[in-house]
Amino acid sequence: MTVRTKLIAGVALAAASLGFASLGLVSAAQAQTKEVQMLHWWTSGGEAAALNVLKQDLAKEGYAWKDVPVAGGGGDAAMTALKAMVAAGNNPTASQMLGYTVLDYAAAGKMGDLTELAKSEGWDKAVPAPLQKFAVYDGKWVAVPVNVHSVNWLWINKAVMDKIGGTEPKTFDDFIALLDKAKAAGVTPLALGGQDWQEATMFDSVVLSTGGPEFYKKAMNDLDEASLKSDTMKKAFDNLAKLKTYVDPNFSGRDWNLTTAMVIKGDALVQVMGDWAKGEFKAASKTPGTDYICMRFPGTDGSVVYNSDMFGMFAVPADRKEAQLALAKATLSKSFQSSFNVVKGSVPARTDVPDTDFDACGKKGIADLKKANDGGTLFGSLAQGYGATPAVATAYKDVVDKFFNGQIKTSDEAVTQLVKAIDEAK
Ligand code: BGC
Repeated sequence: MTVRTKLIAGVALAAASLGFASLGLVSAAQAQTKEVQMLHWWTSGGEAAALNVLKQDLAKEGYAWKDVPVAGGGGDAAMTALKAMVAAGNNPTASQMLGYTVLDYAAAGKMGDLTELAKSEGWDKAVPAPLQKFAVYDGKWVAVPVNVHSVNWLWINKAVMDKIGGTEPKTFDDFIALLDKAKAAGVTPLALGGQDWQEATMFDSVVLSTGGPEFYKKAMNDLDEASLKSDTMKKAFDNLAKLKTYVDPNFSGRDWNLTTAMVIKGDALVQVMGDWAKGEFKAASKTPGTDYICMRFPGTDGSVVYNSDMFGMFAVPADRKEAQLALAKATLSKSFQSSFNVVKGSVPARTDVPDTDFDACGKKGIADLKKANDGGTLFGSLAQGYGATPAVATAYKDVVDKFFNGQIKTSDEAVTQLVKAIDEAK
């Protein structure tokens, strides 16, 4: 989707939701008291299955669910819809949000306050500190983290890997050699959906692999100008250009989950994607180790580039608060953190949830997260709203997309444009 169509789709949706309210379908105070109105972009098979876990938990407690889905991975369209709803004074009970977006709404005074509940539930002790930086604003809890996703993963079809005689790549060069093998065997090597956020999410991993952990942090979290325009960053763009030569001719605009399906079906060898891709493998009843391989993007082992879905809790009238608190409490309960994340592909946003029910990739995800958090190699994903403000993330995605699609022709020009775009967005 272009930015313009996304905008139109988002605004149309928000308008539709306002329209329903004015028709009286959702506005009766009585109905809203025990209703959770939730805006989100979880519309793929795996995402919907995960969301169902929450809907069912709340239904058991007697809360009705008013779904406000806005399709589009990465959430750009959803955030446009959210903006329109909030501007119209039509705050949802909660919205799926990524890091810096929560802080923007909190700074604008739009969020509710969950601090009392947080105290009685002991969230301060259970939720990892890096997540609290985005869930707590000015000393008040304004959002609850649902999960921790990470983006530096490869998802490989095992049968295709065996067929081409491939082995797990350790370095970026190994990865290229593996992709070459697939190409020679006549299989699409790299499954990629040509949307700016998918390209940029992959590029996060490429930057980490090319420059290492310290470089990633300086460039992608600190936005250090010298790093952004360095030869290392140029090399990262060169590496991205190499990857482009392995995608199929129909990659443009393809949704991420249809792209995952190519790997699931064996139409492509590998996808570079956040572990929400695992939710699709799970929904298709595929087993790690047997049907597919999950491994860290070559050259990034030991580091985790994360994002976390937060439920941003908006300021709502007193009669809607009870449902909001019920949602918040259910979301951070230990049992939900396990049952939801097992299905979603992510890992718990609490440090005290056992990994018993998770598959091999989930167990690895949990262990990797702990190690990275302890060892100082846990970094926010710039593509996924945890590296910098939404404006900077948009600028970044735009430059990566232009480079990937040939409007920016060289790595030299890419770094120049990147520095300029980020500077203007800051
Ligand atoms: C979200 C995931 C979601 C993915 C694709 C990411 O931004 O964090 O929860 O599954 O987008 O829609």
